[in-house]
Amino acid sequence: MYRTNTCGELTLKDEGKSVILCGWVQKSRDLGGMTFVDLRDRYGITQLVFNMDTNSDLCGKARKLGREFVIQAKGKVRERSNKNPKLPTGDIEIDVEELNILNKSEIPPFTIEEDTDGGEELRMKYRYLDLRRPVVRNNIILRHKVAQEVRKYMDSIDFVEVETPVLIKSTPEGARDFVVPSRMQPGTFYALPQSPQTLKQLLMVSGFDRYFQIVKCFRDEDLRADRQPEFTQIDCEMSFVERDDVLDTFEGLAKYLFRQIKGIEFNEPFIRMPFSEAMENYGNDKPDLRFGMKIRDITGLVKGHGFSVFDSSEYIGAVCAPGCSEYSRKQTDELTEFVRRPQIGAKGLVYLKYGADGSLKSSADKFYSQDELKKWVEATGANPGDLLLILAGDRKKTLAALSELRLEMGNRLNLRPRDKYVPLWIVDFPLLEWDEEEKRYFAMHHPFTSPRPEDIPLMQTDPGKVRANAYDLVINGVEIGGGSIRIHDAEVQKLMFKVLGFTDEEAEYQFGFLLNAFKYGAPPHGGIAFGFDRWCAMFGGQDSIRDFIAFPKNNSGRDVMLDTPSEISLKQLNELNIEFRTKKQ
Ligand code: AMO
Repeated sequence: MYRTNTCGELTLKDEGKSVILCGWVQKSRDLGGMTFVDLRDRYGITQLVFNMDTNSDLCGKARKLGREFVIQAKGKVRERSNKNPKLPTGDIEIDVEELNILNKSEIPPFTIEEDTDGGEELRMKYRYLDLRRPVVRNNIILRHKVAQEVRKYMDSIDFVEVETPVLIKSTPEGARDFVVPSRMQPGTFYALPQSPQTLKQLLMVSGFDRYFQIVKCFRDEDLRADRQPEFTQIDCEMSFVERDDVLDTFEGLAKYLFRQIKGIEFNEPFIRMPFSEAMENYGNDKPDLRFGMKIRDITGLVKGHGFSVFDSSEYIGAVCAPGCSEYSRKQTDELTEFVRRPQIGAKGLVYLKYGADGSLKSSADKFYSQDELKKWVEATGANPGDLLLILAGDRKKTLAALSELRLEMGNRLNLRPRDKYVPLWIVDFPLLEWDEEEKRYFAMHHPFTSPRPEDIPLMQTDPGKVRANAYDLVINGVEIGGGSIRIHDAEVQKLMFKVLGFTDEEAEYQFGFLLNAFKYGAPPHGGIAFGFDRWCAMFGGQDSIRDFIAFPKNNSGRDVMLDTPSEISLKQLNELNIEFRTKKQ
């Protein structure tokens, strides 16, 4: 028997017991005639004691133990004289009688304690060591718990988990595909699923009226803290449902997960906010509602007073930062720098300080009288002591910049606490997005998303105005999930392809299998997919999903531990009938 107990469970109740523990040497200390070793496993840390007076050979052996050696220790549980209240096992120690070294370890590249040294690159290269750290391990265990709870809940409401293939044909989720060459049919390729979208719709045709799957998805796109090229979805689809049936069902899942994982009850229904309202008031389609500070359109009020920056702008909007009227020149300069960053792209920032004494001081007050400035504060609901931050320019870009500025002020004013959660549904997305470069419409979601029935006639006359029967779940400014009611009517689908500029042949080549299946009795259906990694990171109170994935990729899409993507042998290339156009140096 390797071990009788784990390193996380022995307490004073076990005093006097003979036990065998196994684990890794976290650290050892020699104090006079005693050597103390902290032994670590997945469950915790237990202190081992070796006594020079009673067993000098054994103590000598213990003194040679290095960090991360794997050992087995046999001994008796006894009360500690110097207790450690921070550890569940802190009241006891093991008086060791026998020590076996099961495996030695080289000196690890970083220490494996709570807050390890070692930069991101090093941690990722030695991820198997990083995963020994309690913080990272607990993230992975949290992920496991969330997955178990998802399965429990979905099973309880009759959803069936069905696995779908990973080698498929391209799916239309808007990103680039990862492709896999076929050896047996040279010159042809599989695509890895960006999501199982079309397959889950086929399962609806098959009559599995409630499907879900915790599934890997692959997208070759630019990476960010909340994006990985390979990520996991909780993918779901239902038949014989309308939008509100889907929202109610998955609001149930969200509430259940919050209860089970965080102990938080949501008694009220989640807010359902139309896309247009989110854009107008928060400047994006994933508003963080932990705080207010809505964006106000002041275009009509401020244009036409000879201030050329405003006069030449399509849109002028303001956010009101409460209690910031005393901001110094340095602070307003910092904010100007912030909005001028290339990723935000505003040209400059105009402010109005509404002093606690009622004074009004603006960076544009050459052009506006005090009475006119008074109107700005009335229109924006600013109170004495507040600071109005104003951006101007093209409507879409300015709203996006105001959205970033609002979030920045939320951070500065500590209005975005990690332990507060405000979920909401965004509904009524536009069905189509106009692409100025290609001069054509693209599906905002995917081509099977149903228009709202009352908007179908607009598809022929004003496609940009058509609203989709689509929805996103947003929590604290993060898009946690998204889905839609699908088109199941061949005529509407044809119309959709036409608006998207597909010829019949193109539609047939890309989606023939689905269109064909729809000829054999497709039920009305709809669904949603949640970003599982994002949900775990949110429950764990962090922004980066990477810490919740056992073996993630870095920002350039590399696995630095496996050292891949990497070259393959000439033999493999020949078998695949692949030759590089540019010869390697
Ligand atoms: P969508 O493309 O919105 O919808 O994806 C669903 C959810 O998946 C998460 N997500 C990601 N997470 C990490 N890294 C990524 N690269 C990444 N991309 C997306 C987000 C997102 O909300 N088939 C449709 C769903 C449907 O219509 O049912 C789909 O995949 O949290």
